Amino acid sequence: MAAMKPQEQFAAIRRLLSKWYARTARDFPWRRTCDPYAIWVSEIMLQQTRTTAAIPYYQRFLAIFPDVRSLAEADLEKVLKAWEGLGYYSRARNLHKTAKILVTNHAARLPATAEELEELPGIGRYTAGAIASIAFGLDEPVLDGNVTRVLCRLLRIGEDPRASAVRERLWSAVRVLIPPGKAGMFNQALMELGATLCLPRTPHCDACPVAGQCLALRHNEQGQLPLRATKKPLPHQTIVVGVIRNAAGRILIGRRRPDAMLGGLWEFPGGKRQRGETLEAALVREVREEVGLSISVGRPLAVIRHAYSHFRITLHAFACRHISGRARPLACDAVQWVRPGDLEKYPFPRANQKLLGVIAAGKESSPSAAKQTRCKPRR
Ligand code: ADE
Repeated sequence: MAAMKPQEQFAAIRRLLSKWYARTARDFPWRRTCDPYAIWVSEIMLQQTRTTAAIPYYQRFLAIFPDVRSLAEADLEKVLKAWEGLGYYSRARNLHKTAKILVTNHAARLPATAEELEELPGIGRYTAGAIASIAFGLDEPVLDGNVTRVLCRLLRIGEDPRASAVRERLWSAVRVLIPPGKAGMFNQALMELGATLCLPRTPHCDACPVAGQCLALRHNEQGQLPLRATKKPLPHQTIVVGVIRNAAGRILIGRRRPDAMLGGLWEFPGGKRQRGETLEAALVREVREEVGLSISVGRPLAVIRHAYSHFRITLHAFACRHISGRARPLACDAVQWVRPGDLEKYPFPRANQKLLGVIAAGKESSPSAAKQTRCKPRR
């Protein structure tokens, strides 16, 4: 097999990948716009959400907040509600924070260089490169998980791409690879290849436009590259929460502190069970500590399993009654007694949303057994 010179390999990749992308690019709403604001929103969503899952959220978000000013002027709660279901809520908080900065310091426009973009909350090196290249036509590279996989295979990089020296080598490689003046298109072509053909476990090399340029394929190593991290099992926590009703039939919810994980979202009061505690005892203690109420714990309502990026939870929900005390935000940001029909107006984390279904179906006051629900991690 003849060896391939690096310049020839890069030139062929540029040409073949660009041609392939022109023919096969998927039609996404963010590919139909040149508006830097809309492209920024899409890139933030796509940081941790798959393209097809992001589409309806993207359309709804832009309908509610069509430009920087409308986002900057909105209440954070409204922004979180529009983000509800997407997970990784720091993305929504950072969008909101950045919109305010743009109004104050940048005449409500995104700055047009990767360096300035990277100074804004929620915009790292990858997202800055994506916005600079796609929205502003600058020759800036991107390197996400998909692009990393594509490059490790094309260039047959056998070292760990998470190591900083290898990462820098990959960043330099994409920078050199970009066809001048066409970075926006080419970056998306690399991402598209990683998302549709150069898949992690079963790459479709037979359909790949750059299979002839792929050094991993030449050595039949496409299945082994890039090197994968050995996955440790996620730590697990048992959480108890109460759907607490008062004499007027209202339900108590608390808002998480802004600096906490899932900050600004509402939830049913509760918390982590401690070693040796029963679920019921843990709930009584947590509710007293968090909102200062004394409660009676009734029927189990649901058992919900949920995985976050760094840990898993099993959430046990119980129907509870308020006995005494005035609800106060002792270990949260705010508390509110809400009519059951109004709960849907508040942004809730996904694990709590499952409970809203149980409450809406009136199952919470019927005597049937606890419901088991499993939530997959959001990607
Ligand atoms: N992932 C992140 N940004 C993307 C884009 N612009 N197109 C497709 N996938 C992406």
